[in-house]
Amino acid sequence: MFKRVQRILVVFGTRPEAIKLFPLIHALRAHPGFDTRVVVTAQHREMLDQVMEFAGITPDIDLNIMTAGQSLDGLTARLLDALGPVFDAEQPDRVIVQGDTATAMVAALAAYYRKVPVAHVEAGLRSHDVYHPWPEEVNRKIVGSIADLHFAPTQTAADALLAENVPAERVLVTGNTVIDALHMARTRLAAEPARTQALDELAERFAGTRVVLVTTHRRENFGGGMENIARAIARIAAREDVGVIFPVHPNPQVRSVMDAILGHNPRVAMIAPQDYPHFVRLLDLCHLVLTDSGGVQEEAPGLGKPVLVMRETTERPEGVMAGTAKLIGSDEDRIVAEVATLLDDPAAYAAMAKAHNPFGDGHASARIVETLYA
Ligand code: UD1
Ligand code: UDP
Repeated sequence: MFKRVQRILVVFGTRPEAIKLFPLIHALRAHPGFDTRVVVTAQHREMLDQVMEFAGITPDIDLNIMTAGQSLDGLTARLLDALGPVFDAEQPDRVIVQGDTATAMVAALAAYYRKVPVAHVEAGLRSHDVYHPWPEEVNRKIVGSIADLHFAPTQTAADALLAENVPAERVLVTGNTVIDALHMARTRLAAEPARTQALDELAERFAGTRVVLVTTHRRENFGGGMENIARAIARIAAREDVGVIFPVHPNPQVRSVMDAILGHNPRVAMIAPQDYPHFVRLLDLCHLVLTDSGGVQEEAPGLGKPVLVMRETTERPEGVMAGTAKLIGSDEDRIVAEVATLLDDPAAYAAMAKAHNPFGDGHASARIVETLYA
């Protein structure tokens, strides 16, 4: 039977949302059953644009929300004020949001205020601690209480939703769309090896060392936690057999601490945020990853790279359960000791460096499109 074309608004604003939604946007646009419109809040500006350029997607609407050093209050208020009129004008049949950012939470709320159904991509992640990660744990619970379709990346995530009495027929285990994105980036890198030539110089600078790839940006690490991390990096980089590559998040709360403690350290390559294929290339060339990122925890295991997670809890326990990720918090001595163990104990390294992929198989977007069309 002929079905009416559904008007879908995909709404997002930050780097990780863009990475995890571009494969779905391509899949929706390739399907005749959907009229797909892309609304970016630009909660992130430069880091969002980097992904959009690689993905080849031009937003239909760009709200250009970001201000330097934005507060949670100001950001949340601006998002709600800006998204409401867009939804009124666009009259979507459905809104799609991803993950746990302020953009995702507010877009779900603005849709709810208009009784527009919401689908949640990467639903059901729970740390069960509202302050770790903060404010993401509550953001995704708010989205989960509004959504009528929950695309859970793993069975663990689906079980968390069922435990909150979400009806089983509203929950689908899809895998995480980040693995779709990772596959696409690797395919592109294989076809265009010259694309990441800019990294060759860096790789050469650290030839003969083992590269520790670092990312950090979590709000709960701001202040003392960031200083601990910076001092730990300086101590790790003091080893002759180690090179540190650190794409620094532009948040002033991160940048200022790293500049102050590591700015003049020649053994730490503090570089700008990399576009997605460049970062995937860095994951390929590194020896291990030190991070508090959510997405990086999902990508690194598939590439066989041990991940030391600088957090107290994780809402992505699958890597820890499989033994390829380890929660180490943000204590300076602990970070230094855990990295040293992986560098000096080949058995400890081999036990964590097993390539496996508990987070997805690269077909999550196709499953989501099929369900949305059903
Ligand atoms: C946000 C999300 C977090 C997610 C992270 C991914 C919220 C509350 N936080 O945190 O869940 O894990 O993105 O990176 O939704 N900035 C730039 N250019 C950019 C991006 C950021 O200059 O392209 C600077 C700006 O000064 C901005 C600040 O970083 O005000 C913070 O950005 P914001 O999105 O509020 O917080 P994140 O820490 O990036
Ligand atoms: N990433 C990137 N360039 C970088 C650092 C990270 O493209 O310089 C990618 C990374 O591969 C992952 C995502 O950004 O897919 C993670 O984003 P972030 O750590 O900012 O947010 P989180 O996942 O913690 O919400």
